[in-house]
Amino acid sequence: MKILPGAPARLARAWLWLGVLALIGSGVLAVLLVLSRTPGIQDFFPLKSLFRAALVVHVDLSVGVWFMAFAAVIWSAAGRAGFVGLGWTGFGLAALGTAALSLSPFFPGAEPVLNNYIPILKQPLFFGAIVVFASGMMLTVARALLTVRPGGMADPWRLGAFLGAVAAFLSLSSFGWSWLAVPVIQETIYFEVLFWGGGHTLQFQHALLMVVAWLSIAAAPGEQTVGASPRAVSVMFLVAAVPLLAVPAIYLLVPVGSMPHMDLFAKLMIWGHPYMAPLIVLAAWSLFGLRTLPANPAKSAFIASLILFVLGGVLGYLIQGVNVVIPAHYHGSTVGVTLAFMGMTYVLLPRLGFVQAEGQMAVLQPYVYGFGQLIHILGLAWSGGYGVQRKVAGAEQMLTTLPQKIGMGMMGLGGLIAVIGGLMFVVVCLRAMFRRRER
Ligand code: HEM
Repeated sequence: MKILPGAPARLARAWLWLGVLALIGSGVLAVLLVLSRTPGIQDFFPLKSLFRAALVVHVDLSVGVWFMAFAAVIWSAAGRAGFVGLGWTGFGLAALGTAALSLSPFFPGAEPVLNNYIPILKQPLFFGAIVVFASGMMLTVARALLTVRPGGMADPWRLGAFLGAVAAFLSLSSFGWSWLAVPVIQETIYFEVLFWGGGHTLQFQHALLMVVAWLSIAAAPGEQTVGASPRAVSVMFLVAAVPLLAVPAIYLLVPVGSMPHMDLFAKLMIWGHPYMAPLIVLAAWSLFGLRTLPANPAKSAFIASLILFVLGGVLGYLIQGVNVVIPAHYHGSTVGVTLAFMGMTYVLLPRLGFVQAEGQMAVLQPYVYGFGQLIHILGLAWSGGYGVQRKVAGAEQMLTTLPQKIGMGMMGLGGLIAVIGGLMFVVVCLRAMFRRRER
Protein backbone atom coordinates (compact mmCIF):
# COMPACT_ATOMS: atom_id res chain seq x y z
CA MET A 1 0.00 0.00 0.00
CA LYS A 2 2.00 2.91 -1.34
CA ILE A 3 0.94 6.44 -0.29
CA LEU A 4 1.76 9.15 -2.83
CA PRO A 5 3.93 11.99 -1.43
CA GLY A 6 2.67 15.59 -1.43
CA ALA A 7 -1.08 16.28 -1.05
CA PRO A 8 -2.19 12.64 -0.40
CA ALA A 9 0.25 12.23 2.53
CA ARG A 10 -0.32 15.76 3.87
CA LEU A 11 -4.11 15.42 3.80
CA ALA A 12 -3.90 11.98 5.44
CA ARG A 13 -1.73 13.43 8.25
CA ALA A 14 -4.15 16.33 8.81
CA TRP A 15 -7.19 14.01 9.02
CA LEU A 16 -5.30 11.69 11.38
CA TRP A 17 -4.69 14.62 13.74
CA LEU A 18 -8.40 15.56 13.64
CA GLY A 19 -9.41 11.93 14.24
CA VAL A 20 -7.10 11.46 17.23
CA LEU A 21 -8.27 14.77 18.79
CA ALA A 22 -11.92 13.67 18.40
CA LEU A 23 -11.13 10.31 20.01
CA ILE A 24 -9.54 12.15 22.96
CA GLY A 25 -12.69 14.29 23.39
CA SER A 26 -14.98 11.27 23.14
CA GLY A 27 -12.83 9.33 25.63
CA VAL A 28 -12.86 12.14 28.22
CA LEU A 29 -16.67 12.26 28.01
CA ALA A 30 -16.82 8.46 28.33
CA VAL A 31 -15.34 8.83 31.82
CA LEU A 32 -18.27 11.07 32.80
CA LEU A 33 -20.77 8.62 31.28
CA VAL A 34 -19.27 5.60 33.04
CA LEU A 35 -19.01 7.24 36.48
CA SER A 36 -22.62 8.53 36.20
CA ARG A 37 -23.85 4.95 35.70
CA THR A 38 -21.61 2.94 38.07
CA PRO A 39 -23.43 1.74 41.22
CA GLY A 40 -22.14 3.46 44.36
CA ILE A 41 -20.01 6.02 42.51
CA GLN A 42 -23.15 7.42 40.81
CA ASP A 43 -24.54 8.54 44.17
CA PHE A 44 -21.81 11.11 44.81
CA PHE A 45 -20.46 11.79 41.32
CA PRO A 46 -20.93 15.59 40.98
CA LEU A 47 -21.20 15.81 37.17
CA LYS A 48 -23.98 13.31 36.48
CA SER A 49 -26.41 16.16 35.63
CA LEU A 50 -24.29 16.64 32.48
CA PHE A 51 -24.83 12.98 31.47
CA ARG A 52 -27.26 13.68 28.61
CA ALA A 53 -25.23 16.50 27.01
CA ALA A 54 -22.05 14.43 27.46
CA LEU A 55 -23.71 11.43 25.79
CA VAL A 56 -24.64 13.58 22.76
CA VAL A 57 -21.09 14.87 22.25
CA HIS A 58 -19.49 11.46 23.13
CA VAL A 59 -21.47 9.82 20.31
CA ASP A 60 -21.00 12.63 17.75
CA LEU A 61 -17.24 12.90 18.37
CA SER A 62 -16.78 9.11 18.16
CA VAL A 63 -19.07 7.64 15.48
CA GLY A 64 -19.34 11.09 13.86
CA VAL A 65 -15.96 12.80 13.74
CA TRP A 66 -13.46 9.98 14.61
CA PHE A 67 -14.98 7.54 12.10
CA MET A 68 -15.41 10.11 9.30
CA ALA A 69 -11.95 11.60 9.88
CA PHE A 70 -10.31 8.17 9.71
CA ALA A 71 -12.32 7.36 6.59
CA ALA A 72 -10.78 10.51 5.10
CA VAL A 73 -7.31 9.28 6.19
CA ILE A 74 -7.93 6.10 4.15
CA TRP A 75 -9.33 8.00 1.13
CA SER A 76 -6.43 10.51 1.16
CA ALA A 77 -3.84 7.70 1.48
CA ALA A 78 -5.51 5.61 -1.25
CA GLY A 79 -6.13 8.55 -3.58
CA ARG A 80 -4.18 10.48 -6.23
CA ALA A 81 -2.89 14.01 -5.85
CA GLY A 82 -5.66 15.87 -7.76
CA PHE A 83 -8.38 18.28 -6.49
CA VAL A 84 -6.16 19.55 -3.66
CA GLY A 85 -8.30 22.66 -3.07
CA LEU A 86 -11.39 20.48 -2.64
CA GLY A 87 -9.43 18.36 -0.17
CA TRP A 88 -8.28 21.21 2.07
CA THR A 89 -11.64 23.03 1.93
CA GLY A 90 -13.33 19.82 3.04
CA PHE A 91 -10.83 19.36 5.85
CA GLY A 92 -11.10 23.00 6.95
CA LEU A 93 -14.90 22.88 7.16
CA ALA A 94 -14.85 19.56 9.03
CA ALA A 95 -12.29 20.87 11.54
CA LEU A 96 -14.31 24.06 12.06
CA GLY A 97 -17.52 22.03 12.54
CA THR A 98 -15.77 19.76 15.05
CA ALA A 99 -14.49 22.74 17.09
CA ALA A 100 -17.96 24.32 17.18
CA LEU A 101 -19.58 20.98 18.10
CA SER A 102 -17.14 20.46 20.99
CA LEU A 103 -17.73 23.98 22.35
CA SER A 104 -21.52 24.01 21.94
CA PRO A 105 -22.36 22.33 25.31
CA PHE A 106 -20.73 25.32 27.07
CA PHE A 107 -23.13 27.78 25.39
CA PRO A 108 -26.67 28.48 26.66
CA GLY A 109 -29.76 26.54 25.48
CA ALA A 110 -27.92 23.27 24.84
CA GLU A 111 -30.93 20.99 25.34
CA PRO A 112 -29.95 17.36 24.61
CA VAL A 113 -32.16 15.17 22.35
CA LEU A 114 -31.06 11.51 22.56
CA ASN A 115 -32.19 10.22 19.16
CA ASN A 116 -30.20 7.42 17.51
CA TYR A 117 -27.16 7.80 15.22
CA ILE A 118 -26.59 11.57 15.49
CA PRO A 119 -27.98 12.78 18.84
CA ILE A 120 -28.27 16.55 19.01
CA LEU A 121 -28.24 19.59 21.23
CA LYS A 122 -31.24 21.75 20.29
CA GLN A 123 -29.17 24.92 19.86
CA PRO A 124 -28.21 27.09 16.86
CA LEU A 125 -24.43 26.71 17.37
CA PHE A 126 -24.76 22.92 17.44
CA PHE A 127 -26.98 22.84 14.32
CA GLY A 128 -24.50 25.10 12.54
CA ALA A 129 -21.64 22.83 13.59
CA ILE A 130 -23.39 19.74 12.16
CA VAL A 131 -24.16 21.47 8.83
CA VAL A 132 -20.58 22.80 8.46
CA PHE A 133 -19.10 19.39 9.36
CA ALA A 134 -21.42 17.58 6.92
CA SER A 135 -20.53 20.06 4.13
CA GLY A 136 -16.84 19.42 4.75
CA MET A 137 -17.42 15.69 4.60
CA MET A 138 -19.47 15.97 1.37
CA LEU A 139 -16.52 17.78 -0.34
CA THR A 140 -14.12 15.16 1.07
CA VAL A 141 -16.29 12.28 -0.19
CA ALA A 142 -16.59 13.95 -3.61
CA ARG A 143 -12.77 14.20 -3.78
CA ALA A 144 -12.47 10.55 -2.72
CA LEU A 145 -14.80 9.44 -5.55
CA LEU A 146 -12.68 11.51 -7.99
CA THR A 147 -9.20 10.49 -6.80
CA VAL A 148 -9.48 6.89 -5.48
CA ARG A 149 -9.22 4.70 -8.58
CA PRO A 150 -10.25 1.12 -7.72
CA GLY A 151 -8.05 -0.22 -10.54
CA GLY A 152 -10.25 -3.19 -11.48
CA MET A 153 -10.02 -6.43 -9.49
CA ALA A 154 -6.27 -6.33 -8.91
CA ASP A 155 -6.32 -3.82 -6.06
CA PRO A 156 -8.95 -4.84 -3.47
CA TRP A 157 -7.59 -2.35 -0.93
CA ARG A 158 -8.41 0.61 -3.16
CA LEU A 159 -11.66 -0.99 -4.32
CA GLY A 160 -12.73 -1.31 -0.64
CA ALA A 161 -11.78 2.32 0.01
CA PHE A 162 -13.77 3.40 -3.07
CA LEU A 163 -16.86 1.40 -2.04
CA GLY A 164 -16.59 2.99 1.41
CA ALA A 165 -16.75 6.40 -0.30
CA VAL A 166 -19.83 5.25 -2.26
CA ALA A 167 -21.51 4.29 1.04
CA ALA A 168 -20.56 7.69 2.51
CA PHE A 169 -21.99 9.49 -0.53
CA LEU A 170 -25.27 7.55 -0.24
CA SER A 171 -25.43 8.25 3.49
CA LEU A 172 -24.81 12.01 3.22
CA SER A 173 -27.30 12.19 0.32
CA SER A 174 -29.86 10.36 2.48
CA PHE A 175 -29.42 12.93 5.26
CA GLY A 176 -29.98 15.71 2.69
CA TRP A 177 -32.99 13.99 1.11
CA SER A 178 -34.62 13.40 4.52
CA TRP A 179 -33.91 17.02 5.51
CA LEU A 180 -35.78 18.20 2.43
CA ALA A 181 -38.60 15.64 2.64
CA VAL A 182 -39.46 15.23 6.34
CA PRO A 183 -41.74 17.97 7.77
CA VAL A 184 -40.10 19.77 10.73
CA ILE A 185 -41.71 19.13 14.09
CA GLN A 186 -40.11 20.01 17.44
CA GLU A 187 -40.23 16.47 18.78
CA THR A 188 -37.45 13.93 19.25
CA ILE A 189 -39.13 11.74 16.61
CA TYR A 190 -38.24 14.37 13.96
CA PHE A 191 -34.50 13.91 14.55
CA GLU A 192 -34.95 10.13 14.77
CA VAL A 193 -36.56 10.12 11.30
CA LEU A 194 -34.13 12.73 9.89
CA PHE A 195 -30.99 10.69 10.64
CA TRP A 196 -32.52 7.16 10.28
CA GLY A 197 -31.81 6.39 6.62
CA GLY A 198 -28.35 7.99 6.48
CA GLY A 199 -27.43 6.61 9.91
CA HIS A 200 -28.14 3.01 8.86
CA THR A 201 -26.25 3.50 5.59
CA LEU A 202 -23.19 4.87 7.46
CA GLN A 203 -22.77 1.51 9.22
CA PHE A 204 -21.94 -0.09 5.84
CA GLN A 205 -19.22 2.56 5.29
CA HIS A 206 -17.72 1.83 8.69
CA ALA A 207 -17.81 -1.96 8.19
CA LEU A 208 -16.28 -1.78 4.66
CA LEU A 209 -13.46 0.52 5.82
CA MET A 210 -12.85 -1.68 8.88
CA VAL A 211 -12.07 -4.54 6.45
CA VAL A 212 -9.83 -2.19 4.43
CA ALA A 213 -7.96 -1.51 7.69
CA TRP A 214 -7.73 -5.25 8.48
CA LEU A 215 -6.35 -5.91 5.00
CA SER A 216 -3.75 -3.16 5.37
CA ILE A 217 -2.60 -4.78 8.64
CA ALA A 218 -2.61 -8.29 7.12
CA ALA A 219 -0.70 -7.09 4.04
CA ALA A 220 1.85 -5.01 5.97
CA PRO A 221 4.42 -7.87 6.24
CA GLY A 222 4.00 -8.62 2.46
CA GLU A 223 1.15 -9.25 0.03
CA GLN A 224 1.19 -13.03 0.49
CA THR A 225 -0.18 -12.80 4.02
CA VAL A 226 -3.73 -11.93 2.91
CA GLY A 227 -5.48 -15.35 2.78
CA ALA A 228 -6.91 -15.03 -0.77
CA SER A 229 -6.04 -13.69 -4.23
CA PRO A 230 -6.60 -9.98 -4.98
CA ARG A 231 -9.35 -10.94 -7.46
CA ALA A 232 -11.18 -13.09 -4.87
CA VAL A 233 -10.94 -10.33 -2.24
CA SER A 234 -12.30 -7.79 -4.74
CA VAL A 235 -15.30 -10.05 -5.44
CA MET A 236 -15.94 -10.31 -1.67
CA PHE A 237 -15.89 -6.49 -1.38
CA LEU A 238 -18.39 -6.16 -4.25
CA VAL A 239 -20.67 -8.72 -2.58
CA ALA A 240 -20.44 -6.84 0.75
CA ALA A 241 -21.45 -3.62 -1.03
CA VAL A 242 -24.55 -5.10 -2.79
CA PRO A 243 -26.98 -4.08 0.04
CA LEU A 244 -26.10 -0.42 -0.68
CA LEU A 245 -28.19 -0.69 -3.85
CA ALA A 246 -31.27 -0.81 -1.60
CA VAL A 247 -30.62 2.71 -0.21
CA PRO A 248 -31.63 4.78 -3.28
CA ALA A 249 -34.38 2.23 -4.02
CA ILE A 250 -35.97 2.73 -0.57
CA TYR A 251 -35.78 6.55 -0.96
CA LEU A 252 -37.22 6.48 -4.50
CA LEU A 253 -39.99 3.92 -3.88
CA VAL A 254 -41.16 4.44 -0.26
CA PRO A 255 -42.33 7.79 1.24
CA VAL A 256 -39.44 9.24 3.28
CA GLY A 257 -40.10 9.17 7.00
CA SER A 258 -43.04 6.76 6.76
CA MET A 259 -43.11 3.64 8.98
CA PRO A 260 -42.41 1.31 6.00
CA HIS A 261 -39.39 3.54 5.12
CA MET A 262 -38.01 3.27 8.68
CA ASP A 263 -38.80 -0.44 8.82
CA LEU A 264 -37.01 -1.20 5.55
CA PHE A 265 -33.79 0.41 6.81
CA ALA A 266 -33.99 -1.62 10.04
CA LYS A 267 -34.38 -4.73 7.84
CA LEU A 268 -31.46 -3.62 5.65
CA MET A 269 -29.30 -3.77 8.78
CA ILE A 270 -30.46 -7.29 9.70
CA TRP A 271 -30.30 -8.73 6.15
CA GLY A 272 -27.52 -6.53 4.71
CA HIS A 273 -24.66 -7.10 7.11
CA PRO A 274 -24.41 -10.88 6.54
CA TYR A 275 -23.09 -10.00 3.04
CA MET A 276 -19.90 -9.09 4.95
CA ALA A 277 -19.51 -12.73 6.10
CA PRO A 278 -16.98 -13.79 3.38
CA LEU A 279 -14.76 -10.79 4.29
CA ILE A 280 -15.02 -11.61 8.02
CA VAL A 281 -14.02 -15.23 7.34
CA LEU A 282 -11.14 -13.99 5.15
CA ALA A 283 -10.00 -11.70 7.96
CA ALA A 284 -10.01 -14.55 10.48
CA TRP A 285 -8.06 -16.70 8.01
CA SER A 286 -5.54 -13.91 7.32
CA LEU A 287 -5.13 -13.38 11.07
CA PHE A 288 -4.41 -17.08 11.46
CA GLY A 289 -1.71 -16.57 8.80
CA LEU A 290 -0.08 -13.90 10.98
CA ARG A 291 0.21 -16.17 14.06
CA THR A 292 3.91 -16.92 13.52
CA LEU A 293 4.86 -13.24 13.17
CA PRO A 294 6.39 -11.50 16.20
CA ALA A 295 4.00 -9.46 18.38
CA ASN A 296 3.44 -5.93 17.10
CA PRO A 297 0.87 -3.20 17.81
CA ALA A 298 -1.05 -3.61 14.51
CA LYS A 299 -1.37 -7.38 15.00
CA SER A 300 -2.65 -6.87 18.56
CA ALA A 301 -5.25 -4.43 17.24
CA PHE A 302 -6.36 -6.86 14.50
CA ILE A 303 -6.93 -9.67 17.04
CA ALA A 304 -8.87 -7.45 19.49
CA SER A 305 -10.87 -5.83 16.68
CA LEU A 306 -12.07 -9.11 15.17
CA ILE A 307 -13.14 -10.50 18.57
CA LEU A 308 -15.12 -7.38 19.52
CA PHE A 309 -16.73 -6.91 16.10
CA VAL A 310 -17.98 -10.50 16.02
CA LEU A 311 -19.24 -10.21 19.63
CA GLY A 312 -20.99 -6.93 18.74
CA GLY A 313 -22.64 -8.65 15.75
CA VAL A 314 -23.90 -11.54 17.88
CA LEU A 315 -25.26 -9.12 20.51
CA GLY A 316 -27.04 -7.23 17.71
CA TYR A 317 -29.15 -10.29 16.98
CA LEU A 318 -29.88 -10.72 20.74
CA ILE A 319 -31.49 -7.27 21.14
CA GLN A 320 -35.00 -7.61 22.53
CA GLY A 321 -36.82 -4.45 23.53
CA VAL A 322 -35.16 -1.23 24.64
CA ASN A 323 -32.43 -1.76 27.25
CA VAL A 324 -28.63 -1.60 27.57
CA VAL A 325 -28.13 -4.63 25.30
CA ILE A 326 -28.36 -1.95 22.55
CA PRO A 327 -25.25 0.03 23.66
CA ALA A 328 -23.57 -3.36 24.28
CA HIS A 329 -24.12 -4.13 20.58
CA TYR A 330 -23.06 -0.62 19.55
CA HIS A 331 -19.80 -0.80 21.50
CA GLY A 332 -18.96 -4.28 20.19
CA SER A 333 -19.37 -3.11 16.60
CA THR A 334 -18.03 0.44 16.83
CA VAL A 335 -15.11 -0.41 19.09
CA GLY A 336 -14.32 -3.30 16.71
CA VAL A 337 -14.10 -0.68 13.95
CA THR A 338 -12.16 1.68 16.25
CA LEU A 339 -9.53 -0.97 17.02
CA ALA A 340 -9.15 -1.74 13.29
CA PHE A 341 -8.51 1.97 12.67
CA MET A 342 -6.06 2.05 15.61
CA GLY A 343 -4.21 -0.91 14.04
CA MET A 344 -4.11 0.78 10.65
CA THR A 345 -2.79 3.94 12.31
CA TYR A 346 0.19 1.88 13.53
CA VAL A 347 0.78 0.68 9.93
CA LEU A 348 0.40 4.19 8.46
CA LEU A 349 2.52 6.23 10.92
CA PRO A 350 5.93 5.53 9.30
CA ARG A 351 4.39 5.68 5.78
CA LEU A 352 3.10 9.18 6.59
CA GLY A 353 6.56 10.35 7.63
CA PHE A 354 6.12 9.87 11.40
CA VAL A 355 8.25 7.50 13.47
CA GLN A 356 7.14 3.89 13.98
CA ALA A 357 5.02 3.26 17.13
CA GLU A 358 6.87 0.53 19.01
CA GLY A 359 7.60 -0.80 22.48
CA GLN A 360 5.64 -2.85 25.01
CA MET A 361 3.02 -0.14 25.63
CA ALA A 362 2.12 0.00 21.91
CA VAL A 363 1.89 -3.81 21.68
CA LEU A 364 -0.31 -4.02 24.81
CA GLN A 365 -2.51 -0.97 24.08
CA PRO A 366 -5.11 -2.73 21.85
CA TYR A 367 -5.42 -5.59 24.35
CA VAL A 368 -6.05 -3.21 27.27
CA TYR A 369 -8.62 -1.23 25.24
CA GLY A 370 -10.21 -4.40 23.88
CA PHE A 371 -10.28 -6.23 27.23
CA GLY A 372 -11.79 -3.18 28.95
CA GLN A 373 -14.47 -2.94 26.29
CA LEU A 374 -15.14 -6.69 26.52
CA ILE A 375 -15.93 -6.34 30.26
CA HIS A 376 -17.87 -3.12 29.57
CA ILE A 377 -19.97 -4.81 26.89
CA LEU A 378 -20.61 -8.01 28.87
CA GLY A 379 -21.67 -5.85 31.83
CA LEU A 380 -24.11 -3.89 29.62
CA ALA A 381 -25.47 -7.08 27.99
CA TRP A 382 -25.95 -8.80 31.38
CA SER A 383 -27.65 -5.66 32.83
CA GLY A 384 -29.86 -5.37 29.74
CA GLY A 385 -31.03 -8.92 30.40
CA TYR A 386 -32.19 -7.65 33.79
CA GLY A 387 -34.05 -4.72 32.21
CA VAL A 388 -31.61 -1.87 32.90
CA GLN A 389 -32.51 1.06 30.66
CA ARG A 390 -30.18 2.84 28.21
CA LYS A 391 -29.31 6.58 28.29
CA VAL A 392 -30.22 7.16 31.95
CA ALA A 393 -27.87 7.84 34.88
CA GLY A 394 -27.78 7.94 38.68
CA ALA A 395 -30.92 7.05 40.59
CA GLU A 396 -32.93 7.19 37.37
CA GLN A 397 -31.43 3.79 36.51
CA MET A 398 -33.36 2.24 39.41
CA LEU A 399 -30.71 -0.39 40.07
CA THR A 400 -32.56 -2.35 42.76
CA THR A 401 -31.46 -5.98 42.33
CA LEU A 402 -28.00 -7.52 42.91
CA PRO A 403 -27.69 -8.83 39.32
CA GLN A 404 -28.36 -5.30 38.03
CA LYS A 405 -25.71 -3.82 40.35
CA ILE A 406 -23.16 -6.52 39.44
CA GLY A 407 -23.80 -5.93 35.73
CA MET A 408 -23.46 -2.16 35.90
CA GLY A 409 -20.44 -2.56 38.19
CA MET A 410 -18.83 -4.62 35.41
CA MET A 411 -19.83 -1.86 32.94
CA GLY A 412 -18.03 0.68 35.12
CA LEU A 413 -14.87 -1.38 35.71
CA GLY A 414 -14.60 -2.37 32.04
CA GLY A 415 -15.33 1.17 30.91
CA LEU A 416 -12.50 2.60 33.01
CA ILE A 417 -10.02 -0.05 31.81
CA ALA A 418 -11.05 0.84 28.23
CA VAL A 419 -10.48 4.52 28.96
CA ILE A 420 -6.93 3.63 30.12
CA GLY A 421 -6.44 1.69 26.87
CA GLY A 422 -7.69 4.73 24.93
CA LEU A 423 -5.26 6.96 26.82
CA MET A 424 -2.39 4.58 25.97
CA PHE A 425 -3.31 4.91 22.26
CA VAL A 426 -3.22 8.70 22.50
CA VAL A 427 0.18 8.66 24.25
CA VAL A 428 1.72 6.18 21.78
CA CYS A 429 0.30 8.10 18.81
CA LEU A 430 1.27 11.60 19.97
CA ARG A 431 4.78 10.38 20.81
CA ALA A 432 5.12 9.09 17.24
CA MET A 433 3.34 12.02 15.56
CA PHE A 434 5.41 14.71 17.25
CA ARG A 435 8.57 13.15 15.78
CA ARG A 436 9.22 12.95 12.02
CA ARG A 437 11.09 9.98 10.55
CA GLU A 438 14.70 10.67 9.34
CA ARG A 439 14.72 10.73 5.49
C1 HEM B 1 -13.28 4.25 26.33
C2 HEM B 1 -14.18 3.73 25.64
C3 HEM B 1 -15.67 3.98 25.81
C4 HEM B 1 -16.45 3.95 26.94
C5 HEM B 1 -16.02 3.66 28.34
C6 HEM B 1 -17.82 4.27 26.52
C7 HEM B 1 -18.90 4.36 27.40
C8 HEM B 1 -20.20 4.67 27.01
C9 HEM B 1 -21.33 4.76 27.92
C10 HEM B 1 -21.27 4.50 29.42
C11 HEM B 1 -22.43 5.09 27.17
C12 HEM B 1 -23.87 5.35 27.69
C13 HEM B 1 -24.70 4.13 27.49
C14 HEM B 1 -26.13 4.42 27.94
O1 HEM B 1 -26.31 5.18 28.86
O2 HEM B 1 -27.07 3.91 27.34
C15 HEM B 1 -22.00 5.19 25.79
C16 HEM B 1 -22.85 5.42 24.73
C17 HEM B 1 -22.45 5.32 23.40
N1 HEM B 1 -21.13 5.16 22.94
FE1 HEM B 1 -19.48 4.86 24.05
N2 HEM B 1 -17.84 4.46 25.16
C18 HEM B 1 -16.55 4.30 24.70
C19 HEM B 1 -16.11 4.38 23.40
C20 HEM B 1 -16.96 4.53 22.33
C21 HEM B 1 -16.52 4.51 20.93
C22 HEM B 1 -15.06 4.37 20.47
C23 HEM B 1 -17.65 4.63 20.18
C24 HEM B 1 -17.78 4.71 18.68
C25 HEM B 1 -16.81 4.85 17.85
C26 HEM B 1 -18.79 4.76 21.08
C27 HEM B 1 -20.10 4.90 20.69
C28 HEM B 1 -21.18 5.07 21.56
C29 HEM B 1 -22.58 5.18 21.12
C30 HEM B 1 -23.05 5.14 19.68
C31 HEM B 1 -23.37 5.34 22.28
C32 HEM B 1 -24.91 5.53 22.36
C33 HEM B 1 -25.50 4.21 22.75
C34 HEM B 1 -27.03 4.21 22.61
O3 HEM B 1 -27.55 4.94 21.79
O4 HEM B 1 -27.65 3.43 23.31
N3 HEM B 1 -18.34 4.69 22.38
N4 HEM B 1 -20.62 4.94 25.72
